[in-house]
Amino acid sequence: MKKVTTALAGSLVALAASAGASQALTLYCSAQEEWCQIMARSFEEATGIDVDMTRKSSGETFAQVKAEEANPKGDVWWGGTGDPHLQAAEEGLTEEYVSPMREQLHDWSIAQAESAGNQTIGIYSGALGYGYNNDLLAANNLPEPACWKDLLKPEYKGHIQMANPNSSGTAYTTLATMVQMFGEEEGFQYMKDLHANINQYTKSGSAPIKAAGLGETTVGIVFMHDAVAQVEAGFPITVVAPCEGTGYEIGSMSIIKGARNMDEAKQFYDWALSAEAQNLALEVDAFQVPSNKGAQTSDKAPDLSSIKLIDYDFTKYGSSDERKRLLQKWDEEVSTLPQ
Ligand code: G6P
Repeated sequence: MKKVTTALAGSLVALAASAGASQALTLYCSAQEEWCQIMARSFEEATGIDVDMTRKSSGETFAQVKAEEANPKGDVWWGGTGDPHLQAAEEGLTEEYVSPMREQLHDWSIAQAESAGNQTIGIYSGALGYGYNNDLLAANNLPEPACWKDLLKPEYKGHIQMANPNSSGTAYTTLATMVQMFGEEEGFQYMKDLHANINQYTKSGSAPIKAAGLGETTVGIVFMHDAVAQVEAGFPITVVAPCEGTGYEIGSMSIIKGARNMDEAKQFYDWALSAEAQNLALEVDAFQVPSNKGAQTSDKAPDLSSIKLIDYDFTKYGSSDERKRLLQKWDEEVSTLPQ
């Protein structure tokens, strides 16, 4: 009898544990921290499902999902630039899913999904650019930069910060933009000349403009919406849409292949595509353009229709071979140069 009771108790514990496990979601988030937090907490409130959220940059999250391939720990990867999400799809790290929410989305969001066998989808977009600290610029007697090539002037030496393209999707977008805008040889020459003026490569993409806001660097190369957020926070920042034109991101979301909480992952995915969830961006000064046609775009968001955008080739620059090749070349030919 005792044996039976123990066995029964054991299976009840197992049942309770599995019931508990089905009410949790592990979220890997690569957008800005405040946005990640409000998405996680609001989903918990809406559904009662506990969310365990970790914020890491896009390239870092890709590397983590890849490292966990045999034993996936994450369920959904929300946010971050689209290129590593596309690479994850190509490498079979993410799950195909066609959400019933798709009819509410802009074409650019669906195009991102369709180019990757529906293993990812666009959740927001934003243009690359840079911002500078007005006070530091004046104090250092520096001219106002307006173009990408202005940043190569020797007087900006030590005044420019950007992220490392291995960890950061923002910085990879910068590298891929230069290659597409100027051609591979000239694009790499640009990155080498820029390297001479860089004071630090940060891990996270938006860190350089936060540092500029605090007066720790003069210029930060970031997505323009991240620079606008610093202006809104009251820092003396000017936002620049570079004169030559610029690249952009389709911030993306993917379900991780083999997710332990697949039902909850799909529930989060559908919810995250709703206008209601996308409007949470407005509460945390995230000034990207949302992918749901019914979601609001802040009037402070950079107007993408007035910015000269290049025809960014997401399929090529989000492909596994190309992303690996460009990062390796940057590691070998740019990051090793003396400063
Ligand atoms: C910021 C931007 C996002 C972008 C993300 C990429 O949070 O606001 O639009 O997707 O950076 O982060 P990463 O650290 O990978 O450059």
